[in-house]
Amino acid sequence: MARKFTLDPFSGKYAQRTASMLSSEIRDLLEITARSDIISLAGGLPYTQAFDPEIMVRLVQKVLSEDCAASLQYGPTDGYAPLKHVLVKIMAEEGTPCLPEDLMVTNGAQQGLEIISKIFINPGDDIITEAPSYVGALNSFLSYQPRIHAIPVDEEGMILEQLEETLRGLAREGRQAKLIYTIPNFQNPSGVTMSAERRYGLLELAASFDCLIVEDNPYGLLRFEGKPVPTLRSLDETRVIYLGTLSKIFSPGMRIGWVAAPHPILEKLLLAKQSADLCTSSFTQRVAYLYFSQEDWRGQIKNLVEIYRERRNVMLASMEEFLEGLAEWTKPQGGLFVWARLPEFIHTSEMLASAIEAKVAYVPGSGFFPYRGGENCLRLNFSYPEPDLLWEGIKRLSKVIKREVALARALGLPGNTKGSP
Ligand SMILES: Cc1ncc(COP(=O)(O)O)c(C=O)c1O
Repeated sequence: MARKFTLDPFSGKYAQRTASMLSSEIRDLLEITARSDIISLAGGLPYTQAFDPEIMVRLVQKVLSEDCAASLQYGPTDGYAPLKHVLVKIMAEEGTPCLPEDLMVTNGAQQGLEIISKIFINPGDDIITEAPSYVGALNSFLSYQPRIHAIPVDEEGMILEQLEETLRGLAREGRQAKLIYTIPNFQNPSGVTMSAERRYGLLELAASFDCLIVEDNPYGLLRFEGKPVPTLRSLDETRVIYLGTLSKIFSPGMRIGWVAAPHPILEKLLLAKQSADLCTSSFTQRVAYLYFSQEDWRGQIKNLVEIYRERRNVMLASMEEFLEGLAEWTKPQGGLFVWARLPEFIHTSEMLASAIEAKVAYVPGSGFFPYRGGENCLRLNFSYPEPDLLWEGIKRLSKVIKREVALARALGLPGNTKGSP
């Protein structure tokens, strides 16, 4: 682990953009919660234990015995061509048409977010995100110094009245939002899915105000119940930059994602990727290609969905058992996360030390807002901990919250858990 300096001797040397980068509470936390006695509801880790190691050994052996030299070599910046065909197949699974030439492979969806930021955002540009939103996206955006307008979400996704008001306000000042960033399915961190009606409404607003939409869809195939909703890209290819990833349906360790976009944008993204890393790993792209062309990946997604559904159920049941009256929370139909709102006088960042002392961890809500917000909220992950640990983790958390509430009552503070999501 790198040694941490309280006073940074290099502080005069950094670029201005580093000042707006958020410190990652998730990263700092993961270091602490890696201690085995803490039940971590903090991470966002897929349950990679669900994969049969023998399959992976077989695939890696095949790559090395049949295609060793090429797998050790640099590859095309836009990705390994056979894998691109496979990614098209995965998009078709959610009813999203795409051609191999409409997409490029990236080092995870995270790199897609970074290079999108790089090619679009000048300092001071206006962009829109959901509030709360994915911290990795906020960090990429913020390092290019935009003005972020964070639009609250409710149980149907981004609240379009507020989006329209913001876009109109900008237009009155002669400004225009370049990008609208959304995670429409089982959003990280709120777990909320944008309704079909809102998706159509969002596309209409984007068209009237001439904004591009960045659709980040890592969780769409991890649906436990309910009907799939059409992706934004399937409704409008001309205005949507689509981000996909293999991280949640296969392996985050492979670092494979992709961007599908209109061709002129794709060309600029390719230049940005070239200067970032030349190409995504030729080796892992070949392993992934074999996995999705020879193995029962649909069966494995079903398997993951069953595991996660059970864990989601355990988490929601334990929250009903232990947190009723103390918190409000979302009920995700898929994905990895539940978002909870505590009484307003509780600051979840401040409460975290007590939680860790009680041997349970979560991610404080404020990290998911670009500037302010979510101070009384927290994100809980249900994909990684085993069900009995989820139950015990929520039980421990409830004791910590009860102590905070009792303390506040003793000090005469009012309680309030209302709000959304
Ligand atoms: C909404 C969202 N976008 C992007 C990513 C990054 O995924 P990848 O592993 O593909 O870089 C994540 C990871 O948790 C995420 O939740």
